[in-house]
Amino acid sequence: MTIRNLARYCRRGALLAGTALLLGACAPSSDELAEGQEPYLRFCASCHGNDGGGKAPAFPPIAGSEWLELGPDAIALVVLGGMSGEIEVAGRTYRGYMPPMRQLSDDDIAGLLGYIGREWASWERLPDSARVAELRPLTDDSRATAGREGLEALLEQVPAP
Ligand code: HEC
Repeated sequence: MTIRNLARYCRRGALLAGTALLLGACAPSSDELAEGQEPYLRFCASCHGNDGGGKAPAFPPIAGSEWLELGPDAIALVVLGGMSGEIEVAGRTYRGYMPPMRQLSDDDIAGLLGYIGREWASWERLPDSARVAELRPLTDDSRATAGREGLEALLEQVPAP
């Protein structure tokens, strides 16, 4: 590894450590957290914000996103399958990349979806971990889901709840 590369890796490491510290410092203490807020803060907030407001132009909002109208299964599929390509969210265009997050447990995904549902959506039904386990195989290939069309194609394969 050249010195230049090394410096770049170190900078990135310092940045990551800084972000982790910041997140730790900003997260409310655990006894004040709502149900499912802990996995939301841990796995989503670094990009989508503690308040779900996103960080334009890179990261779209979850709070106020019309994508929530697709329902909880759709959002579970976004978490499991990630997202890539150009998309529209709340009147803005994003061309970002969200990595698939299949490393999260079914429980954590069900938990954070419950939090999103209660805070920012009006879903009749919240998915439980068994439902997340059922959806998981739909996103088994390693590429991120291609935009809204990719997600809608996945939704057509979703088993009846
Ligand atoms: C590393 C950053 C990152 C993390 C962490 C992340 N996302 Fe995303 N997310 C993105 C980006 C970038 C997009 C838009 C991708 C695109 O432009 O194609 C996106 C898109 C979305 C969308 C669809 C558009 C919208 O805003 O409604 C949803 C829903 C979503 N993410 C939910 C989540 C949830 C829930 C989590 C936590 C499990 C999460 N994301 C974690 C970066 C991230």
